[in-house]
Amino acid sequence: MATTLIPRFVSEYPTDSLDFVRVTEEAALNASRWMGRGERNIADGAAVEKMRDALNDLEISGRIVIGEGERDEAPMLYIGEELGRGGMEVDIAVDPVEGTNLVANGLPNSIAVMAIAERGGLLHAPDSYMQKLAVGPKSAPYVHIDASVSDNLNAVANALERPINDITVIILDRPRHKDLISAVREAGARIKLISDGDVDAAIATAVDGTGIHVCMGTGGAPEGVLAAAALKCLGGGFMGRLKPRNDDEARRAREMGFGDLNRVLTMEDLAPGEHLMFVATGITDGDLVRGVRFFGNAARTHSILMHAQSGTLRFIESVHRLGAKPYRGK
Ligand code: FBP
Repeated sequence: MATTLIPRFVSEYPTDSLDFVRVTEEAALNASRWMGRGERNIADGAAVEKMRDALNDLEISGRIVIGEGERDEAPMLYIGEELGRGGMEVDIAVDPVEGTNLVANGLPNSIAVMAIAERGGLLHAPDSYMQKLAVGPKSAPYVHIDASVSDNLNAVANALERPINDITVIILDRPRHKDLISAVREAGARIKLISDGDVDAAIATAVDGTGIHVCMGTGGAPEGVLAAAALKCLGGGFMGRLKPRNDDEARRAREMGFGDLNRVLTMEDLAPGEHLMFVATGITDGDLVRGVRFFGNAARTHSILMHAQSGTLRFIESVHRLGAKPYRGK
């Protein structure tokens, strides 16, 4: 059987790392059928269902810490849901479709994403907003979320030994970022505005060849935890600060234990896990990974897999025979 040819990667988990890749692959395969069809919720639901089935097949005792919402608002992959066939206790953060609008509109950079860590290894962030700053490994020691935009961009330019007009900053295209965009322009850096998908954008800052050096701005807090997990695996830098949109969100954050809402959240606050793993599969083509391609009775997926302990980053291309039974492990 073809699966015997798959190399066994050295993993911190009893479950093979490739088993985790299969989870995001299945989510991406299912969601990608909805590319460009204007149905963001159906695309999301298709990915959620497959991701949950695939997680339930793993030899883990998994608990969702970042998912589709609280138990009363999400039927599947809700926060606190327990998944798996039993085994090592792990916490799991998922975003079955990061960039639901991107899939619905057939736009680039949508991914199926998951981070896994030992219990307590991923922060349970409220469903609120977060101010974020993400950079690659060389720039990480020299930036701070409280420094001015111009100071941070000059620090990145120095760290990368480039003129500032060679530095590209990625920002979500939102009215709330008007001042930020002006400040980046004044500093002299280039900007790539994106309509959605700041997890992919944050990761791109730490992967050579993407042409992205900084990701700044405010987006989803759960996405902030996922991005921090990925950047920790890549040796990059990530800082965040909760930005509740209203009193309700602020109250919810306090109830969850966030005393000082203004506190800077470091990568270690957001993703303290030692045995941390991050995996993402492209749904639509992107800066990081290619999207799903269907051909005849097969489909090709492109994923990234990273481990914090080893610092290894793997790009994995898989060809799936459609309709074949999924591999059920050892
Ligand atoms: P969804 O996949 O849940 O649609 O989120 C996409 C996204 O663009 C995230 O990448 C980002 O963090 C967040 O939405 C920004 O939120 P908003 O669209 O409210 O500005």
